[in-house]
Amino acid sequence: MADLVSYERQGAIGIITVDNPPVNALGVGVRQGLLDCLRRGQEDAGATALVIMGAGRTFMAGADIREFGRPLEPPDLNDVIARIEAGPKLALAALHGTALGGGLEVALGCHYRCALRSTQVGFPEVKLGLLPGAGGTQRLPRLVGPEMALRIIVSGDMMSAEQAHALGRIDELIDGDLRAGAVAFAERLVAEGRPRRKISEVDERLEPARRDPGIFDRFRKEIERPARGYLAPFKCIEAVQAAVTLPFAEGLRRERELFLECLASPQSKAQIHAFFAEREAARIPDVPRETPARPIAAAAVIGAGTMGGGIAMTFANAGIPVHVVEATPEALERGLATVRKNYAATADKGRLAPAEMERRLALIRGTLAWDAVADADIVVEAVFEEMAVKQEVFARLDRLAKPTAVLATNTSTLDVDEIARATGRPGQVIGTHFFSPANVMRLLELVRGARTTKETIATAAELARRIGKVWVLSGNCDGFIGNRMLAGYLREAEFLVEEGATPEQVDRVLYDFGFAMGPFAMQDLAGLDVGWRIRKGKAAARRQDQRYSPVADRLCERGRFGQKTGGGWYRYEPGRRAPRPDPEVAALIAESAREQGIRRRAVGDEEILGRCLYPLVNEGARILEEGIALRAGDIDVVYLHGYGFPRYRGGPMYWAGTLGLKGVCDEIARYHQIHGRLWEPASLLRRLAEQGQSFHDLGRA
Ligand SMILES: NC(=O)c1ccc[n+]([C@@H]2O[C@H](COP(=O)([O-])OP(=O)(O)OC[C@H]3O[C@@H](n4cnc5c(N)ncnc54)[C@H](O)[C@@H]3O)[C@@H](O)[C@H]2O)c1
Repeated sequence: MADLVSYERQGAIGIITVDNPPVNALGVGVRQGLLDCLRRGQEDAGATALVIMGAGRTFMAGADIREFGRPLEPPDLNDVIARIEAGPKLALAALHGTALGGGLEVALGCHYRCALRSTQVGFPEVKLGLLPGAGGTQRLPRLVGPEMALRIIVSGDMMSAEQAHALGRIDELIDGDLRAGAVAFAERLVAEGRPRRKISEVDERLEPARRDPGIFDRFRKEIERPARGYLAPFKCIEAVQAAVTLPFAEGLRRERELFLECLASPQSKAQIHAFFAEREAARIPDVPRETPARPIAAAAVIGAGTMGGGIAMTFANAGIPVHVVEATPEALERGLATVRKNYAATADKGRLAPAEMERRLALIRGTLAWDAVADADIVVEAVFEEMAVKQEVFARLDRLAKPTAVLATNTSTLDVDEIARATGRPGQVIGTHFFSPANVMRLLELVRGARTTKETIATAAELARRIGKVWVLSGNCDGFIGNRMLAGYLREAEFLVEEGATPEQVDRVLYDFGFAMGPFAMQDLAGLDVGWRIRKGKAAARRQDQRYSPVADRLCERGRFGQKTGGGWYRYEPGRRAPRPDPEVAALIAESAREQGIRRRAVGDEEILGRCLYPLVNEGARILEEGIALRAGDIDVVYLHGYGFPRYRGGPMYWAGTLGLKGVCDEIARYHQIHGRLWEPASLLRRLAEQGQSFHDLGRA
């Protein structure tokens, strides 16, 4: 353990270096090592000041998250920080890489901070359902004022060293060698006789908030909507408020209480699960990280519709030049106009500099000439969802694209292998299933065909990382992971309204559960026509003995495609997005119920929740069983990033585990009795329920 932290001296400056790769996490060994080295430095008569820094690529990037599940082992980070701050020698933190969470709290315990310009600082705890628990909520408001501290701590966002310098969180920016710069800065502080500035003793910045305690309620109000359902952001506010209302030592105690409350909450466990699941998703057992990915210098997108335009934007946003190939000049112009409009909207909100917008637009080149695909390292097809059209496009790509190019399809329901068969290089064909709007939604399902090579997967994965997507690998099946599960969710939502619920009630129940929106509002946003066209294609294969709700089809027959046509499951006032109940829809629903002989009744909220969510879990179990998803966590990631499932519940598979699979399986079996075949419990679910296990126990020894 001793070598996790070391002490040495350079001239009159003692240097404490944390060396705990990869990110110098503040595990128990580092905390103990820091205490030991602090003692050495403080007792070293030759040292006039101490510099604390990290070896390798970063300063301490936070707590050791693996410790969160266990009782916290001493020494406590608060004690380490108190020792730094109260120590007899001037202490300076020298930051580089990412100084996050506990790392930043150590830096705030120091009397001064310097950093390389490339450094990022932040308190990401809130994203794990926690709050900074080692004085961060007490010291930051004293340094930057409570309002700014609230923004920083409650958002959890990182900030550049330059921004932090402007706010006074960092005293000195360093160019070149960090260690040399830090030593020189420390020598200067000593030479100038600068005091040991203890942030815990600085009070002036708290004064305005003491006179106007309303800032906290105003801030609560401001985050009410974006933080709906979450516990930690509100606990963060309480902690910062304690910094204003209590003396420092008491504030620290309050912060600790609030931290432990968050740590013990199911929300933080779920959010920590989500955090690990996202990282794990990028690990494909038979495609190791070393698998060579082909470099991607240029891309092409076929089709400039809803998806093609958004996909082209994600490439341009990452600095990758992209040709967009369309079938007609009108479609091309329409597509490019939408792209321009989307960028302009972002620029108008001040979130994109005009010059940057122009740079991105210049990277997107529309064309009707197919030879434009010749220089692309990856081509993403986003044309109509029809097999014949897709196959024709792929046959053409096979003739025109580079021999090494990855040929990707954005299909949402078609068989990737069948598409690949239109080419002489099925190994280079992969599904890249983007979510709408593609430039906004973070999820990307990569769909592995039977012949997709490891190199193709590695290349697509590397691209996904570069364009900032969270990606999950799915096997090739109807609907892949996300939409295959969604089918049951939507089916039950529609059955429920036939049985007597209203779209508003169903949507409210799922919204209150924490979804970004309910199933009917979601369909209206996505457009009902897409599913309608797909259902028409499959109508012949539908089992006649199976209950089927025709309401969505009838809405489409009346031209009600959702928000874009002013009506779908709801009606919309021109230019407004607020869904309003529509008597015409209610009549269609009642008519459908009558035709099927359904006796309408009052449906309880609890039934709505179970009927909609259990199908997700049951189908998820089948998807796991069949190996379509590699792990339950991948399914959770798909739902968190593609479908607005509340992150503080961890995803559908994790959520089912928190309820206990036995209970979930019993409920599904009960609905199986009532509603028949569609509710048959998946055998994996049955087995795990019997064994008292959860999905996440699978694959664990
Ligand atoms: N819309 C969604 O929410 C969504 C989400 C995920 C995946 N997808 C999938 O993405 C694909 C595209 O969907 P969309 O919603 O963007 O459709 P869209 O109808 O908006 O756009 C398709 C575009 O492709 C063009 N096109 C058709 N045939 C072409 C050809 N041979 N050569 C060049 N261009 C051609 C059309 O002119 C049109 O502009 C489909 O496979 C769809 O299933 C859609």
